[in-house]
Amino acid sequence: MNAPVQAPAPVAATDAPPAPVLPGLPFTARWLLAPMEGVTAPSFRDLVLARHAPTDLGGAFTEFVRVIQGPVAHKELHKHLGTARFPIPVGVQLMGRDLEGVEGSVRNAVDIGVPVVDLNFGCPARGALKGCAGAAALKDPTGMVETVEAAVRGAEGRVPVTAKIRAGFDHAHDVEALARAAEDGGAALLTIHCRTRREGYCDEVDWTRIERAVNAVSIPVAGNGSAIVHADLERMRRETGCAFVMVGRGALADPWMFSGREVDAQEAAGFLVEYADVLASLGANVKGAAGRVKQLLNYWTAGGMIADEEQRGTWLREKDPAALLARLRGLLDESGAGGR
Ligand SMILES: Cc1cc2nc3c(=O)[nH]c(=O)nc-3n(C[C@H](O)[C@H](O)[C@H](O)COP(=O)(O)O)c2cc1C
Repeated sequence: MNAPVQAPAPVAATDAPPAPVLPGLPFTARWLLAPMEGVTAPSFRDLVLARHAPTDLGGAFTEFVRVIQGPVAHKELHKHLGTARFPIPVGVQLMGRDLEGVEGSVRNAVDIGVPVVDLNFGCPARGALKGCAGAAALKDPTGMVETVEAAVRGAEGRVPVTAKIRAGFDHAHDVEALARAAEDGGAALLTIHCRTRREGYCDEVDWTRIERAVNAVSIPVAGNGSAIVHADLERMRRETGCAFVMVGRGALADPWMFSGREVDAQEAAGFLVEYADVLASLGANVKGAAGRVKQLLNYWTAGGMIADEEQRGTWLREKDPAALLARLRGLLDESGAGGR
């Protein structure tokens, strides 16, 4: 196993974190890493956090943690948070409609030191909708208010509760009402993913929906949806008036996108190799680790490591997981780009 590539550590974890950019929220900068199921587990998230100063990346979240019946146990929350600590705050995201369960889960999260709890009102998966959770709330603003209220009760004023919505279920006519539902429930921040549930993850985005949410509420808003490169962060803020920008797949393409640091192909490959090594250390077999690396290669633009879509295809079509990882390790020994 290659030694993990040493990520630059801009700020030691023991340094005092900088002051939050807005009172009442823990975020140390205006750019946030989005919750992503199957990706923002500690294995990936920590690698991104380790590469950023808290003045560049202001916060991150766990993938959604389902509240099914009753409160999520401390042990489960710890699993999602991992053991490494950074000066960048990491919140827990919960998804569920069982009000007592949500309240108790938030209480448990606060007990173990979580600085902010987010609620998922955007997950389009059928399983979530069946349980009236995730994007189902977009058709039930009253239910959204109740869920946020339950979370706020659980937080007992000790940490802020934030809410993440999509722009609507089938259409975006009601962005304002949905944004207000989150605010009415007591959310301290609203994140709006500007696609509707029907739009899934389509390429087209309409950032004016973010601007509409900003104008509809008095709480700060985090805009989300196709902020892909570093320059998009400031552009989304300028065009919509949002206070924060949350990034999902842009960070899967380039984990350095929050700082805008341009890495070379070797360093980019180093991230993926380190990711595979971390997954292996957590018990993943070669196939599992390579599968997770491939998930990133679908998006990967960092370091010019993948020159074009044809070359991306050669990575994605590689059926032998060991060969895929060996090819990546090979890049560590090259000084420039390549990998064909
Ligand atoms: C693989 C994947 C998993 C996701 N999981 C979650 C999740 O657990 N919770 C959530 O609120 N959103 C989730 N999302 C949505 C993202 O947080 C974000 O809202 C969406 O990708 C749009 O942002 P982007 O255009 O910057 O990617 C997920 C998205 C992806 C691609």
